[in-house]
Amino acid sequence: MKLGFLASGRGSNMQSILDACESGQLKAEPVALVSNNPDAYALERAKKAGLAVFYLSSKTHPQSELLDEAITGAFQSHNIDLLILAGYMKKIGPKLLSAYSGRIINIHPSLLPKFGGTGMYGMNVHEAVIAAGEKESGATIHLVNNEYDQGRILAQRSVVVTENDKAETLAEKVLTVEHQLYPETLIKIVAGDISL
Ligand code: GRF
Repeated sequence: MKLGFLASGRGSNMQSILDACESGQLKAEPVALVSNNPDAYALERAKKAGLAVFYLSSKTHPQSELLDEAITGAFQSHNIDLLILAGYMKKIGPKLLSAYSGRIINIHPSLLPKFGGTGMYGMNVHEAVIAAGEKESGATIHLVNNEYDQGRILAQRSVVVTENDKAETLAEKVLTVEHQLYPETLIKIVAGDISL
């Protein structure tokens, strides 16, 4: 199975998947990364692992349709089977969505459907969880459709929220779980134990 990635930032989740491929635990081949951020550390990580990397954004393609087409083309030219969102801060275009319908997955740092949707990204999620007095939070892996954070849930893992937690400490706890859950879920997808 050939994997493509979309990432906007540090790419630590992508790295956990690259590591699982490298160690042979995940029987998949990571082949390409598209980032909308020229300074994303994810680009460095992907280059180091030998992936094809593309910087495609509204700066390189001001017309959204052409951007959507360029991103879709980048993945199609590398025969991607599965598209993995790993901290991608942009909405997926309709062309990309239909080209990989049912084969795009994302990770979200809360127990969806709680704390998902517009504005629920990065530290906002953890701040909202703390403000709501939640006793647990966690990570969710889900299929991507045209609504933010609303595709079918494939896997979830929770963490305990303590009274001492701040958004930053909760973010760290959740990220640790994300780095386990993403490769584990992909291993199950490849094995056919989770169907898309
Ligand atoms: C993660 O918390 C993920 O849940 C969210 O964006 C963050 C990406 O972190 N979608 P990284 O770039 O993988 O380090």
